[in-house]
Amino acid sequence: MNKIFIKSMAIILAAFGITFFAPFAQADPAHTFSIGTNAFLLDGKYFQIRCGEIHAARVPREYWRNRLQMAHAMGLNTVCAYLFWNQIEPEPGKFDWSGQADVMEFCRIAQQEGLWVILRPGPYSCAEWDEGGLPWWLLKTSDIKLRTRDPRFIGPAEDYLREVARQFAPLQITHGGPILMVQVENEYGSFGNDLVYMGDLRQTMLDAGFDVPLFACNPPSDLKHGWRPDLFPVVNFGSNPDKAFASLREIYPQGPLMCGEFYPGWFDTWGAPHHLGNAHQYLADLQSMLSSGESFSIYMAHGGTTFGLWSGADRPFKPDTSSYDYDAPISEAGWPQAKFFQTRELFAKYLLPGETLPEPPATNPVISIPPVEIAQCAPVFDNLPDPISAAVPGTMETYDQGHGCLLYRTTVPAGPVAILEAAGIHDFGFVFLDGQRVGVMDRRAAAAKILLPSRDHTATLDILVEAVGHVNFGQEVFDPKGIHAPVKLAGRELTGWQMFKFPLDAPMLAGLKFQNATKTAGPAFWRATITIDHPGDTFLDLHSWGKGVLWVNGHCLGRFWNIGPTQTAYLPGCWLHPGDNEVVILDLLGPEKPEIRGLEMPVLNELHPEKDFLKNRRPEVKLNLASTAPVFTGSFAPGPAAQEIKFPASAPLSGRYFCLQSLNACDGGPFAAVAELDLLGADGKSISHDGWTIAYVDSEERIGEDDSAENAIDGQTASFWHTEWKNASPNHPHELVLDLGKTQIISGFRYVPRPGGDSAPGRIKDYRIYLGDNLISR
Ligand code: GLA
Repeated sequence: MNKIFIKSMAIILAAFGITFFAPFAQADPAHTFSIGTNAFLLDGKYFQIRCGEIHAARVPREYWRNRLQMAHAMGLNTVCAYLFWNQIEPEPGKFDWSGQADVMEFCRIAQQEGLWVILRPGPYSCAEWDEGGLPWWLLKTSDIKLRTRDPRFIGPAEDYLREVARQFAPLQITHGGPILMVQVENEYGSFGNDLVYMGDLRQTMLDAGFDVPLFACNPPSDLKHGWRPDLFPVVNFGSNPDKAFASLREIYPQGPLMCGEFYPGWFDTWGAPHHLGNAHQYLADLQSMLSSGESFSIYMAHGGTTFGLWSGADRPFKPDTSSYDYDAPISEAGWPQAKFFQTRELFAKYLLPGETLPEPPATNPVISIPPVEIAQCAPVFDNLPDPISAAVPGTMETYDQGHGCLLYRTTVPAGPVAILEAAGIHDFGFVFLDGQRVGVMDRRAAAAKILLPSRDHTATLDILVEAVGHVNFGQEVFDPKGIHAPVKLAGRELTGWQMFKFPLDAPMLAGLKFQNATKTAGPAFWRATITIDHPGDTFLDLHSWGKGVLWVNGHCLGRFWNIGPTQTAYLPGCWLHPGDNEVVILDLLGPEKPEIRGLEMPVLNELHPEKDFLKNRRPEVKLNLASTAPVFTGSFAPGPAAQEIKFPASAPLSGRYFCLQSLNACDGGPFAAVAELDLLGADGKSISHDGWTIAYVDSEERIGEDDSAENAIDGQTASFWHTEWKNASPNHPHELVLDLGKTQIISGFRYVPRPGGDSAPGRIKDYRIYLGDNLISR
């Protein structure tokens, strides 16, 4: 490293309060990177970062090079990668960087393919990944405070960061590697405000050997929360770069501007339409950033697949699909989409001196597989492991299990029809009486209760709980799975439970006893052999299957659910071999027809609400506004900026239900939309969304795209509630009613308008607020 560079770097870093520290032996770096007063500088010259995100974990390792070549051919000069702590440290203190977790190799391949790297190690990552990347074993401490200085959290988090530095410090540009910058935490401003927490993580990373610039990302409305001047700030958004960068300038008046996450599409959740981004807007915004010299990272350039049981859940509770196609320019299977070529054409006009674009690599061969009947079956109830006994049922984590299913069993006395209710169900509880399914406890409806039929004898009660991904955003990342006790029948607590673990891992699968399929009802594993001459990528057709998980040759392809929108599972050809291949499918509902075949195209957007076991997503309620006076009446300012409204400080206001009623829109149109609502408590600070649900909404678009009301409380400002626009356009007034779970003191609220250009439809103008315990009757 030359001395002049060290000096100039030290000056620049000092400007951010970053201490210059490099405990590793310095390989003589061939290149230098720094944050200049007006631009990023690579080897001392102006450098515009054209970055795109790809997660090594979401692409079969065998295809890393192909996808990175594709990304480079699209015109990217940098690739951004999250690490997922829970994949790397499956047990406390045991780090496993093998296979898909070998992100060091991913970085080396990126470098060989001419790409720089931005690393985002967490400890919290979000990314629609189980618990946002936090290990499930943290939840064994029932009162742990995640993402805080609670020593039971920050201790393991800092150990993990030190291990990350051991692996990645030698891969920094300062040591001859491709890593230009490293992120600390992720969108922390959307979660907390503790500068010391961010400072502690930063210091640990510096001490552990990260000597490139450290940065923090946040959406525009949360940039100021937890902001420290010694972390380079970048802003995340999906549209309107000028407005977002103006917000960034409020905390960062001078220096290069960068968008940390620029969304070309969005992720999918079960039961909602597949997201398609607005390509026209995407290209216009990219062009604006390119021509203004702003840097960006396209989230996702290639989304891939959340293989295994790693997909997370959006809050309050919307489980994510395993397909992470994201409507990205490079599709789930690595195919360049129209957006890829449009991006490439655009980027070609903004190349830096000396740059050329390589040709896209060939895509992988694709095959179809003719229908194969699945002849073998292992019913769950015939494959029970040894039970754990306890008077009161515990959560899954209590029994050292982080994922999969857990069967809870007890007996119930003879008696009439009665309500069976648990304090909570995370996430789906399939209830059986003497082996017959009698109902489903369903977290989506915030309902852990069913009507249990009458019994004329003491009967066996089984609750087979399926855990889907731990919520990956907000306070709800504290999401212990299984049954939350007590469980009561007709108001009396049931005790004397046996628990049977189905973690859905390799040892458990290896122990299953398959028989020739005679039974087709009930939860069961199914097994078939498919014979293939020439392996290739394919999409397993799951139309005739219910809900569950599937594996091919021991590789878990992810989850499926007949309600859609995903109806196929991406099967990479590199996981197949010529000859016999084993397919195993766990179906908790039972297939319509036990058959499997491979298609040449994915089916990502086919919804079947009629197949859903939950018939009413929201219980029918009556809205009682006529007899209630609003507690506040106001008008929102036009434009996308967040607005905080404090109620006049007369008597404290309280209530369990909070209703926002729109009276008209800024553009005069019929629609109402909200990106995010936060409520302020007695101290004027945002209160937790924990336990919140949507009690009522008069209209929400769920066909044209997923604009459901939950988007207004999911913590993500890029997704929004929007009244219907596809098949109907009902006019104001519109009402959105939040159920806060309990009566709370509310001193005001924070409203983030829907994203988009200055005149995006649905931005509310005049409104009324109602608050009380009786706004809703059930
Ligand atoms: C946020 C997070 C990302 C991801 C996106 C949505 O911006 O930072 O990890 O979850 O939302 O895909």
